[in-house]
Amino acid sequence: MLTTRTGGLWLPFTQMENFDPAARTFVRGEGNYLLDSAGKRLFDATSSIWTTVHGHCHPAIVSAIAQQASQLDHSTLLGASNPVAEELARTLTALLGMEYAFFASDGASAVEAALKMALQYWQNAGEPGRTRFLRLVDSYHGDTAAAMSVSDISVFKTRFGPITFETLPYNIDLSLLEREDVAAVIVEPIVQAAAGLRIVPPEHYAALQSMAPLLIVDEIATGFGRTGTMFAHEQLALAPDIVCVGKGLTGGTLALSATVVKERVYEAFLGGHGEMKQFFHGHSYAGNPIACAAALANIALFKKDETIAHVQAVADEIKPALRDLAGRTAVREVRGAGLMIGIEIVPSRVQNNGAATPAWSISNALYERGHFTRPIGDVVQLVPPLSSTSAEIHTFISDLDDLLAAD
Ligand SMILES: Cc1ncc(COP(=O)(O)O)c(C=O)c1O
Repeated sequence: MLTTRTGGLWLPFTQMENFDPAARTFVRGEGNYLLDSAGKRLFDATSSIWTTVHGHCHPAIVSAIAQQASQLDHSTLLGASNPVAEELARTLTALLGMEYAFFASDGASAVEAALKMALQYWQNAGEPGRTRFLRLVDSYHGDTAAAMSVSDISVFKTRFGPITFETLPYNIDLSLLEREDVAAVIVEPIVQAAAGLRIVPPEHYAALQSMAPLLIVDEIATGFGRTGTMFAHEQLALAPDIVCVGKGLTGGTLALSATVVKERVYEAFLGGHGEMKQFFHGHSYAGNPIACAAALANIALFKKDETIAHVQAVADEIKPALRDLAGRTAVREVRGAGLMIGIEIVPSRVQNNGAATPAWSISNALYERGHFTRPIGDVVQLVPPLSSTSAEIHTFISDLDDLLAAD
């Protein structure tokens, strides 16, 4: 029997044939750092894929989890409620200026719920012909079937064609917004993280407010302060009907996501017993009280630590260093919003050093210097916890600069 060096553990988006767990196995998290099994301390420069907010193992979140785990670990939301999920629904909807929250687990499951909600919304509203979804070019909304369908990154998607459906990019043809079969438009606000921290030109959102029959804003990567406001769509003056949040919702501790909606969406699902208008969707762990307690503690820390002001100040402080980095011949572009930054390298100007790609070679060298990041194509990611200091980020930038100067 073939066994992996991870003892049977199969890692996502990872070629297991050459993965070396001795080089990358994490055993502890402390603030903005991860400790690997060799005792190396690493700055978590991707916030463990855009999840960690106030640092790893934050005592306030850890104690909220422990306290809740000893009181009510789980009870289903299928036809029942719990006070922690209710409090989180109240808190989240108040933060977003919306009215109702539907809980799931990972980001993709919040997107999946949003898409099914949009379809059933139009059925309940008497327009069942609205079945088509529009999206941005280069979109990414997750790896489940419907989330993949509204995504546009071919390497993640093409081989799964038989289980996806066709969706269209409205931003290259605005007339699509006028079609009578459109159920909803889904967008990532400001930053397309998985496309390589791409910045969407603001004019691509301009038509949405008046023309989208239902507007779904996916804040799974951008939400909870990463772009310098609590939610990125605040900077675009968009008023969505549905917002998806995940990742940073629990501060990076437990899997919890939410599909948050305006009253008119929720109201379309109300009706008598025989009408069958209730939302036909749900997951076993929806609204898990422990995860909801973690989310409440995470959200409370934003006020206590003035996290948004901190992100804005740090993002300003690191701008000159990023500008210098952008001047390197090995760098094609430095782009970002708040603390979501991508450094796109010129691969022909960087050595591979036996790594999968030049960007991987740089990321591996950064690991040696105490930073954990993961490239997206030719883009080196700098998406650190919001609790990072500008000194910590400057060290990352200066080590990266040094490596790129050496090539
Ligand atoms: C914008 C966006 N939506 C959805 C997802 C999917 O989230 P998850 O990986 O938690 O399923 C991601 C993940 O990176 C994302 O960036």
